[in-house]
Amino acid sequence: MTDTERDVVDLLSADHREFDRIFRELEQLRGASGPDVVQRKRELVDEVTIGLAKHSVAEETQVYPLVEKQLDKDEAEHSKEEHAEAEETMKRLERMDAADPEFDAVVAHLIQEIRHHVEHEEGRMFAELRSSLTRDQLVELAGKVESVKKFAPTRPHPMTPNDAGVRRVAGPLASLLDHLRDAVSGRGRSGS
Ligand SMILES: [Fe+2]
Ligand SMILES: [Fe+2]
Repeated sequence: MTDTERDVVDLLSADHREFDRIFRELEQLRGASGPDVVQRKRELVDEVTIGLAKHSVAEETQVYPLVEKQLDKDEAEHSKEEHAEAEETMKRLERMDAADPEFDAVVAHLIQEIRHHVEHEEGRMFAELRSSLTRDQLVELAGKVESVKKFAPTRPHPMTPNDAGVRRVAGPLASLLDHLRDAVSGRGRSGS
């Protein structure tokens, strides 16, 4: 298992495929109800939310700044906006009951936002990274992305408490994002 040998494009693309696997399962459950199905939808949404939060913070702190400075300022800005939009959708899902009749529609919206974003990243930004950086630089960047993802708890995940009161104040997603961003900024003081 040599993750260090995977370059950053391989690594981030593998995350994208994993998100899509979860999305496809959610799509199969669309319109279905019953306690088991509702619980499974909740689990899948929480799982993909955690994955997306880690992935997005890693991209925003390790990859986009480099893209912004050296390769494609517009693309970096556009991608950050898309992350912020998806984050709002995920926060909305976090506050919703998975049995809510609107839940599936909001999930479908998130899926559409992320698929669009992934298409953009893979079609433009990743291609630019591959053509502009050396293999060593791409592998080094993969290591940095991995280290950010390690700051986050994986399981048992923080999304499970279904206490709507707690969720409404500062949801687990907001805490997770704060935790990750603090961890990264506290650690990367030496860099620019
Ligand atoms: Fe991505
Ligand atoms: Fe992204």
